[in-house]
Amino acid sequence: MVLLFLYKEINMLDVQKIREDFPILKRKVHGNPLVYFDNAATSQTPQVVIDAIVDYYSNYNANIHRGVHTLSQEATDAYELARKKVQQHFNAANSHEIILTTGATHSINIVATGFANLLSQGDEIIVSALEHHSNIVPWQMLCEKTGAILKVIPMNQEGELLMEVYDQLLSDKTKLVFTNHISNALGTVNPIEEIIEKAHKTGAAVLIDGAQSCPHIKPDVQALDVDFYVASAHKLCGPTGVGVLYGKEDWLNKLPPYQGGGEMIDQVTFEKTTYAGLPHKFEAGTPNICGGIAFGVALDYMNSIGFDSIAGYEQELLNYGTEKLLAIDGLRIYGTSKNKTSVISFNLGDIHPYDVGSIVDKLGVAVRTGHHCAQPIMDFYKIPGTIRASFSFYNTKEEIDILVASVKKAKMMLS
Ligand code: ALA
Repeated sequence: MVLLFLYKEINMLDVQKIREDFPILKRKVHGNPLVYFDNAATSQTPQVVIDAIVDYYSNYNANIHRGVHTLSQEATDAYELARKKVQQHFNAANSHEIILTTGATHSINIVATGFANLLSQGDEIIVSALEHHSNIVPWQMLCEKTGAILKVIPMNQEGELLMEVYDQLLSDKTKLVFTNHISNALGTVNPIEEIIEKAHKTGAAVLIDGAQSCPHIKPDVQALDVDFYVASAHKLCGPTGVGVLYGKEDWLNKLPPYQGGGEMIDQVTFEKTTYAGLPHKFEAGTPNICGGIAFGVALDYMNSIGFDSIAGYEQELLNYGTEKLLAIDGLRIYGTSKNKTSVISFNLGDIHPYDVGSIVDKLGVAVRTGHHCAQPIMDFYKIPGTIRASFSFYNTKEEIDILVASVKKAKMMLS
């Protein structure tokens, strides 16, 4: 009883107060209050993060790691502090295991390109049927280069991976396993602990795409014992154009640099170049300095709210939204795993998702429509796409009521 009470306390968010932190939530779209349910595509930005961006450009805009002047040193300190914040957030053992990138896609490509030297003809790579294109295409390109073979863990109608098939796919030929932590199209939470443990038993390395999990869950890369974990800042209340590649030190040392350029070198002559150590080996060129600093501020912001509270509240929104949407005659939800986050992908009979999305937009409701960069999932269900509503901790049940009313209106107009 006491425990239950404490749990409820932890999950209490002052959502109205939180909404005050997001200036965009006050705007109107087509004359209606904005209802922003496209959080899986990108999250909105709180004022503290906007302020950090303005502060950087107003007061200490300079290149980093390059100048003795004060502005450059201030910018370098702020950028490296952000790296430390990311390290602490992901509980990485070392800050040099945190590579700051332009986003999860860039992070995946660093690893996929790097493995070209480490794979041979006939080696096997396993991905899941639930992947985003960014966790399929780079591995296909790697297979083309190396002669490695791509194997896929299939899914069931609920949108869950068939783990017994995963067991059969694993062998001593498996060199790499890649899966997302949470499916962007369906919201399924994958059993990554089991996936990692089993892959390691065969000696394979594992990359987890955390682009969709990080807005809801605080991952502990050491507890997971994962080899690579990637995420994007813009899904975590940070800016676009920034992301993270966490890699175990040994793996990052084995991989070659992804790009050549300034900052990633130790010594350059026309005869030979030697490379910098971690993390700079993977950070050629001037990075998104302001974005990196703002990412650190965004993590502080989300941690001040607390991921337990965020996850608990979003689960409430998911349950509420699922119940209300399912009450609409003919509406089908894709992705019905018991273990899912606040993403509802659905269709209204044979009505094209784009048509529904356009009508609800006119009523102020932002949802994503289409294949969500996950065409194999849509092929599995034999549909062109879905309407996807994805909820964040600053959304409310009242907004879900508006979504439901606008979907009903779309149905009436399109049937
Ligand atoms: N990957 C992002 C999404 O699912 C863009 O919408």
